[in-house]
Amino acid sequence: MRAVVKIGGSLLYDAEGKVIVSRVRDYASVIESLVKSGHSLVVVVGGGRPARTFIAAARELGASEAQCDWLGIKLARNNAELLCAALGAIAYPKIVDNLDELEVAVNLGKVILMGGLIPGQSTNAVAAIAAELIQAEILLNATNIDGVYDRDPKEKGAVKLDTVTIEQLRQILKSGGTRAGEYELFDPVAIRIVERSKIPTTILDGSKPENLARAIRGEKIGTQIITSGSK
Ligand code: UTP
Repeated sequence: MRAVVKIGGSLLYDAEGKVIVSRVRDYASVIESLVKSGHSLVVVVGGGRPARTFIAAARELGASEAQCDWLGIKLARNNAELLCAALGAIAYPKIVDNLDELEVAVNLGKVILMGGLIPGQSTNAVAAIAAELIQAEILLNATNIDGVYDRDPKEKGAVKLDTVTIEQLRQILKSGGTRAGEYELFDPVAIRIVERSKIPTTILDGSKPENLARAIRGEKIGTQIITSGSK
């Protein structure tokens, strides 16, 4: 199966801001076994804590939102470098930073790693665009929550949804920020791309890397996004 996986940057850092090396290693070994089983993967890694730290400092220093986004883009690429190091020879050795290169690299039989692409969106949009471009059969969004909730998951009585329609998702995420570093679980660009190409998409708990393998095997975990006429 051709899959695009987004790994939330927040999953790779502990409360003190240190890289959780064991988590990176665990992701690498799950990815390796998926590749051995014949799956082809593009992995997009988010910016996580370093992106937020740099963006906050740059904003305080007077940087524009585009400059702040640009920092986030580069820091997400750095995080992707960590996973690239852990994957060794099975990874395409350069972090793919444009779509022309993605189209070529995807046919080389290596795991492709990406971070950010352009300002004004999040790495969820990168993952959605990559999935659309390479005609991925599945898009997995591994994040720091076990799925989409009907309201802010911190609110009492919030219920996790097994499936969510695009309209529901827009409604649930409508109060999300649009400044650098503040994009929600799924930003508007990502939602639009998933909607127009009906990309089968699942949002799942990324604190357990093996959840990727479970989702690729077809287990119903996390929250599936339903687009009208979903494949
Ligand atoms: P993300 O917000 O996507 O990282 O990218 P993340 O850590 O994975 O987020 P979670 O864990 O899913 O919440 C970091 C920042 O980089 C910029 C944005 O400012 C974004 O908030 N960025 C990323 C872009 O401007 N363009 C991109 O294509 C990607």
